[in-house]
Amino acid sequence: MILTDEEKRMLDSSCGEGMRRAMEIIVTLAKTYDADRLIKISSAHLGATFKSHGIEGLEWVEELVEQGARCDLDQVLVTLNPRSFDNDHWREIGFEEQAVANQERLDRCYHRLGTIPVYSCVHYLLGNLPKRNDHFSWSGSSGQVLANSVLGAMGNREGVWANVAAAITGRTPEYGLHLKENRRGQVLVTTEDLDLSKFSAVDYATLGYFVGREINDQIPVFSGLPKHLTMEQVRGLAYSLPVAGAVPMFHVLGVTPEARTFEEAFGGEEPNRKLVVGAQDLKTVYDLLNTTQRGEVDLICFGCPHCTVTELREVASLLQGKRISENVRLWLCTSRWMKDLATHLGYREVIERAGGYILSDICAGPSAPFNYLKKGISVVATNSVKTAFYAPGTSKVDVLFGDTKKCIEAAIRGKWGN
Ligand code: F3S
Repeated sequence: MILTDEEKRMLDSSCGEGMRRAMEIIVTLAKTYDADRLIKISSAHLGATFKSHGIEGLEWVEELVEQGARCDLDQVLVTLNPRSFDNDHWREIGFEEQAVANQERLDRCYHRLGTIPVYSCVHYLLGNLPKRNDHFSWSGSSGQVLANSVLGAMGNREGVWANVAAAITGRTPEYGLHLKENRRGQVLVTTEDLDLSKFSAVDYATLGYFVGREINDQIPVFSGLPKHLTMEQVRGLAYSLPVAGAVPMFHVLGVTPEARTFEEAFGGEEPNRKLVVGAQDLKTVYDLLNTTQRGEVDLICFGCPHCTVTELREVASLLQGKRISENVRLWLCTSRWMKDLATHLGYREVIERAGGYILSDICAGPSAPFNYLKKGISVVATNSVKTAFYAPGTSKVDVLFGDTKKCIEAAIRGKWGN
């Protein structure tokens, strides 16, 4: 493997022990993946829940910081994924004082490392927006799939330690999706008997979930989708594809930047497989994700990935002049910046007057807020396939999965369905 003179200096302690250890991880990763060289990244996004680090992970990052490791924001924009709790509501969601202390210790550590605490998985809406052909190292899967597919930026799904090391060194091994030849489409996906003109963001997430489950880690090329997808619709596809599978990116023929033509999308080769998705297939997703027939709902939880301001507006308009059932909690997870916008635009007032909360900075997925509720939550309704997929396993709750309107109607009535 070829290292530049600067990279060799990073590896021989000339740039400090913290840098040396971070570089050692990057070089080990490069050897593991048979990479010929390292490449510079312009964007990093780091996991920030204490839960994903544990005490060993926290102490490891602290040690790096003590040994002088720092991010250089002039070279790499480094932001943080959601943390474990919301500053305003942590007691109500059952978060314990020791867990708060651990999370705050991790927050301080990442502050000293020099990261930007957006605490959101829609960081691409908050300024961390790599351009086409930029290389990045991001934690989490939902943003990474979107950046590869829709922005045409290049990055792999990596673990916490590889992300931190990349953020410090500004380097990542050249392998996987950093190489053009690994980005070609493999499976042609078309639809039948689906009215795509009426497809909501939740419908796209259902489609993505089904396709991911079918094709596992291959790259799909969707043909026949509308040219003008909204951010929420395209994000619905992006976040759901890796939920039941390990799809790293996707193309939409005639829409996404590396799929202007059929030849470009498939790199001049024929698809390995053709998959036709119909209404019955999407119905099976609802059947799979709904784990109970019981009508009662304890919690409605949205925001995996974090709600956009458009989604908060939709919820506010459904709740205008209404009140949610006294037995139901409604939590909308987002970034503090979206919450500020929602406050400014009056959506927060409508939502809170109806009895709901906008929670900020918090992860609504596997580290979800209902994990912390020790009692009283046995059925969670959600419009997120990711929450629906993970919640039964991580939180031992039943799940009701449906579109935004159906969930909000359940919040008001205190019951699911008619
Ligand atoms: Fe975001 Fe946490 Fe879901 S990081 S995508 S809310 S799992």
